[in-house]
Amino acid sequence: MADQYAQTREDNRLAGTPVIRWEEPPEGPVVILLDQTRLPAEEIERVCTDAPALVDAIRSLAVRGAPLLGIAGAYGVALAAARGFDVDEAAAALTAARPTAVNLAVGVRRAQSAHRAALAETGDTGRAASAALAAARGLHEEDAAASARMAGHGLALLDELLPGGGHRVLTHCNSGSLVSGGEGTAFAVALAAHRAGRLRRLWVDETRPLLQGARLTAYEAARNDMAYTLLTDNAAGSLFAAGEVDAVLVGADRIAADGSVANKVGSYPLAVLARYHHVPFVVVAPVTTIDPDTPDGASIEVEQRPGYEVTEFVAPQVPVAGAGGGVPVAPLGTQAYNPAFDITPPELVTAIVTEEGAVSPVTAKALADLCAKPRRA
Ligand code: MRU
Repeated sequence: MADQYAQTREDNRLAGTPVIRWEEPPEGPVVILLDQTRLPAEEIERVCTDAPALVDAIRSLAVRGAPLLGIAGAYGVALAAARGFDVDEAAAALTAARPTAVNLAVGVRRAQSAHRAALAETGDTGRAASAALAAARGLHEEDAAASARMAGHGLALLDELLPGGGHRVLTHCNSGSLVSGGEGTAFAVALAAHRAGRLRRLWVDETRPLLQGARLTAYEAARNDMAYTLLTDNAAGSLFAAGEVDAVLVGADRIAADGSVANKVGSYPLAVLARYHHVPFVVVAPVTTIDPDTPDGASIEVEQRPGYEVTEFVAPQVPVAGAGGGVPVAPLGTQAYNPAFDITPPELVTAIVTEEGAVSPVTAKALADLCAKPRRA
């Protein structure tokens, strides 16, 4: 088993399977996903022939991360339409697959509306299916462009906040090319700093319990030859205390109208630490992650995940034993508290960086003004 992890940087460089793609083999259209539960050990693709398969991939985190969930949701609607399934039923199931990342509902709605409008206009199911696919492809491309713009705005902000250069950045969870049509959100900013020669170190929180930091962010950092160091989540405090962190960069799954940020559980404690140590805590997310219909942090539904993710090691590379298919690390029957996300209040967020620019300080009005700005195509 250990050998599977004995990858060299060379091995990592060889990788590069697209995270999501649409294909039309003779048997019918499919959505192909890079199965993120298998990383970093192997790059395995999952072929989805219908929306329920995508729902399953979303729930099991084979496909994950807010912007990518939006893209996957939109392709899921297109797939249902192209294969002649009930589009509204598929849209409802996809939206309900995970509750916190608003991008999922936004992506689904976008493809569903395109389908509905084309059907109303032409009465032709084939043309309606094409319209849903065009909407999904459009979202995919827009996300790539938004990534690049977020990286630019984020790096400019970092340079402004930390005029000395040589940034030491701490990040949590995974927010790179594995969650996006492009290079991601928070990770894309760190990558831009690295390319500009201004990233001294990327501190990567392992991100318990599903290890998105260790498995995915470290994987992306290695592939990009970044100077990175992995730490357990509970080592972050001592790292701040040692003066080793210049800024925290995280993504977001939903930003409420008041600026409260839902992101991977463990983000809020980092924001508290950052404030105590006078370190900027910066959130990077596309405008689609801002949800004007969610007034505040308390209104965000936080997904609760199964307890076995905490009471067992469930990485697919370990042998099967416990109820969740993993190796037990707690006594049988132990209850677990396993929220997938936590909420950081706006007063702890130094800035929110989007593709349309940065908001700082984070206020309801500043966010509303940003969302009202005409969007770039
Ligand atoms: O449960 P996950 O892995 O889907 O959680 C992902 C995160 O929390 C990311 O930080 C978030 O989606 C922002 S990524 C741009």
